[in-house]
Amino acid sequence: MAKTTYITTPIYYVNSVPHVGHALTMLVCDVTKRYRQMRGEKVVFLTGTDENGLKVYEAAVAAGEDPMKFVDWISQAFRDVADLMHIDYDIFFRTTSEQHKVSVQALFERLRESGYIYSDKYEGWYDVSAETFVRESDLVDGKSPDGNEVRWVSEENYFFKLSAFGDKLMEHAAANPEFWLPVGRRAEVESFIKQGLRDICITRTQAGWGIPVPGDDSKVIYVWFDALINYLAATGWPKEGWEELWPAEIHWMAKEIYVRFHATLWPAMLMAAGLPLPKTVIAHGWFTFNDAKMSKSKGNVLAPAEVIQFFEENGCTHDLAVDATRFTLIRCFPYDNDSNYSMSEAERMYNSDLANDLGNALNRTLSMTHKFTEGKIPADALEPEVEEKIQAAKAAFAAEFVESKVHLVVDHALSMARELNRYVDACKPWDLAKNSDPRLGAVIKGMLAYVRAAEGMIRPFMPSTADRMAAQLGLDPTTHWDAIGSVDSLPAGTSIQQPEPMFPRLQVKPAEPKKAMENEPKPEAPVKAKKPAFEPPAEIGIEDFMKVQLKVARILEAEPLEGSEKLVKLQVMVGDEKRQILAGIKKSYNPVDLVGRQVVVVTNLKPAKLMGHESQGMVLAADGPNGTAILLQPEAEAPEGTSVH
Ligand code: MSP
Repeated sequence: MAKTTYITTPIYYVNSVPHVGHALTMLVCDVTKRYRQMRGEKVVFLTGTDENGLKVYEAAVAAGEDPMKFVDWISQAFRDVADLMHIDYDIFFRTTSEQHKVSVQALFERLRESGYIYSDKYEGWYDVSAETFVRESDLVDGKSPDGNEVRWVSEENYFFKLSAFGDKLMEHAAANPEFWLPVGRRAEVESFIKQGLRDICITRTQAGWGIPVPGDDSKVIYVWFDALINYLAATGWPKEGWEELWPAEIHWMAKEIYVRFHATLWPAMLMAAGLPLPKTVIAHGWFTFNDAKMSKSKGNVLAPAEVIQFFEENGCTHDLAVDATRFTLIRCFPYDNDSNYSMSEAERMYNSDLANDLGNALNRTLSMTHKFTEGKIPADALEPEVEEKIQAAKAAFAAEFVESKVHLVVDHALSMARELNRYVDACKPWDLAKNSDPRLGAVIKGMLAYVRAAEGMIRPFMPSTADRMAAQLGLDPTTHWDAIGSVDSLPAGTSIQQPEPMFPRLQVKPAEPKKAMENEPKPEAPVKAKKPAFEPPAEIGIEDFMKVQLKVARILEAEPLEGSEKLVKLQVMVGDEKRQILAGIKKSYNPVDLVGRQVVVVTNLKPAKLMGHESQGMVLAADGPNGTAILLQPEAEAPEGTSVH
């Protein structure tokens, strides 16, 4: 029996909620899984959360939360984003699980017994934000090379003999050219190894959070050493049956955790343990915004839910809005170089590729089939040109997938729509019909063949769209790769459906994420994915929090704001001051029910103009399901104007 194909994303830190960058790596694995399944492989796809790091612990403590509750909460936010994006993962692995602890301790023991782990004193700098040890010589103005704060650590610790594996890694990579991908990044790893790998400290003296060193509870295992083992732990190792999944076929991640961790440390750990290495370790670049990495700490992130909601508000059904989001993320995929992902880019790609090319191709085909061949798939044979184009696109698609160039792969799928449009423009079926030309049947069949091939090839990226396309063609979904372009894929005489537009053209110019971040309150801004009501605590001190003035207020008047789907205009009393506040709660509350209620408001926000009306503050609400809001209210009546902390 063929081995299961095991593919992984990194496991994400649970110190802040997910954004489109996190979703991107999940998506590339999801696309890979769906494609490989079409090729007949059994695929298991792992994603999950990395929960043992010091920064996660500190984030929880600073938020005044029980660490376990805190990690449960954010871990769930990652799972929610995966579900929202229709990511078909099989394992959502958490490093606070018992299974993980067992595997990590077993691997530690094995390496200690074989002499690859030894004890020594560690003195040096530690970058909590990146969870890495930093050399004195690498400090820049007293900070880590990434610009993070560092702290001095002086402890008796355990070390891993990474220095023993440089040559072995180079030899393995030379014999296995698909080991370090993409080709461009291979050189970075080689140059890192050539500088000489040094042993690394793999424990910390910090009881209470993390996986204890076996037999020495005063120390926990360094979070990277622990986290990397997740891929193996999820197979059940060292319990029987782990070979069913191991070795992994592909580990995907972005470039910042490639060279030092996934491309060197992890395979060296496996070599030391005498375990087989993953087939491919591959990194993509970053989504950037305004040339900076999109990241929560820079405040320039876009949540997948925002993009989906944008497409929904512009007329897509929910499932197709998810597909449109998936499509734009992959189309913008930073395979070698970083790429800017923004709403305006997403809008542009949507209009040109989905509304114009794909949507048009389907509509034209269905309309002309109704008009010229009585709504039935003709029995005529395909013209050779059409067959060749489909087979060539299929081959190119498969070839690009060998190195996981998903952004190019999706273009081959779309090329079917473009070829179809060209074919129609060249053949002019309406003229053939006017002249009763016998070629008409073959041309309509050709159009249907292009749409059918697009349906098959687009399926790994846009599964709901592919289902819709198949249904409109009156056919079963193409679930097997070999069926694409086959004679059987278009049974003659099948009745097709009436065309139903899938991707309405967008007219609205959305705000860029940066702009969406400014001028809070922003009730008209898209609702974000479930998100905790705190910021990552490492990024804000109490003095920052104290800058926000929160007070109890009473709603005196409430009326829906004309022309807005979401806003309600409130007149509130804060102490003896009356204020007007616009709140995005129309979906969730009937304005008449709000009058007399107490709420909590931010009173020192700069006033903002929303749809021509001034808003002098912000009403606090929790994110409810499906973009609804749940107002915060003091548990008992409090005097109006009372401060809230
Ligand atoms: N916990 C570690 C990984 C341990 S794996 C054994 C970690 N977590 S993380 O939350 O910081 O996630 C980093 C990963 O999220 C990146 O490697 C990438 O997969 C994804 N991305 C996060 N921001 C991204 C962009 N701006 N652009 C592209 N990918 C992004 O590191």
